[in-house]
Amino acid sequence: MNTQRILFIGAGRMAEAIFSGLLTMSKEHIESITVSNRSDEARLDYLKSTYDLQVTTDWKSAVAHANVIVLAMPPQAHEPLLKELAALTAGQLVVTVAAGIGPSYLEANLPANTPAAWIMPNTAATIGESMSLYAVGQHVTDEHEEVLEMILKGMGEAQKCTEEEVHNLTAVTGSAPAFLYYFAESLIDVTKKFNIDDETAKQLVVQMLYGSVAMLKGGTEPSDLREQVTTPGGATAEGLKVLQNHDFATIIDEAIAATNKKARGN
Ligand SMILES: NC(=O)c1ccc[n+]([C@@H]2O[C@H](COP(=O)([O-])OP(=O)(O)OC[C@H]3O[C@@H](n4cnc5c(N)ncnc54)[C@H](OP(=O)(O)O)[C@@H]3O)[C@@H](O)[C@H]2O)c1
Repeated sequence: MNTQRILFIGAGRMAEAIFSGLLTMSKEHIESITVSNRSDEARLDYLKSTYDLQVTTDWKSAVAHANVIVLAMPPQAHEPLLKELAALTAGQLVVTVAAGIGPSYLEANLPANTPAAWIMPNTAATIGESMSLYAVGQHVTDEHEEVLEMILKGMGEAQKCTEEEVHNLTAVTGSAPAFLYYFAESLIDVTKKFNIDDETAKQLVVQMLYGSVAMLKGGTEPSDLREQVTTPGGATAEGLKVLQNHDFATIIDEAIAATNKKARGN
């Protein structure tokens, strides 16, 4: 792979997760990283003093030098920005991380034949543990895919999908972490009812989740792990029965469906 000259438009948490991963894991493939926002110079000063990169508040002047452009700004900022970008691009790979903005939208708003891609990390990207999804447009070559894989590798694991699949699965990989944190909050609250202080309650629940996830990562089927904990007719089985009586699986199904409905603007 040739070395890459990457321009970030947007300098927030997601941009930082991407370029910090790149600089840690793939520095030999990076010729330059330029990061831009519209006006927050303090943020740019912080990034420049922390990472090996250039900063600017004038992204337009940096487009010609870049061979990859990463859009790391809010979804609603894309339409006006793409109008300006369309006049300046010359075949660069354009990648967005914005919710709901697939490669077909980028292609429709950029010059013909522009290679376009959509990557959808989750918040664990900031610690290199994302489960990211990505989809590519019609003009993405094998070499572009290598660049995308390099970007994604810096944030954790990634799964290539169709554009439609990214729309459907972002609820699972991007939003369901909030469901899991809600489960953790609820369990911590219950733990505190037994006269346990906040810190200890949190420690009990967090390590329980961490160990359980490590068991899952080991590859054993979730249902087998559940059965290992659940003696038939025992105490855990009584607790699970409550979840089943409240149709836990249906609640999860409905939560994912509601997330997708909203994400599609319905
Ligand atoms: N955070 C996540 O876990 C996560 C996960 C997956 C995807 N995403 C997506 O990643 C994108 C960025 O999220 P984030 O969490 O990094 O947000 P953030 O921390 O709020 O940063 C947003 C950045 O975009 C810039 N920006 C805002 N409006 C802009 C505009 N009109 N034109 C150009 N730049 C603009 C902001 O700087 P200025 O206002 O100074 O320009 C800022 O640097 C969003 O589209 C989000 O959907 C986020």
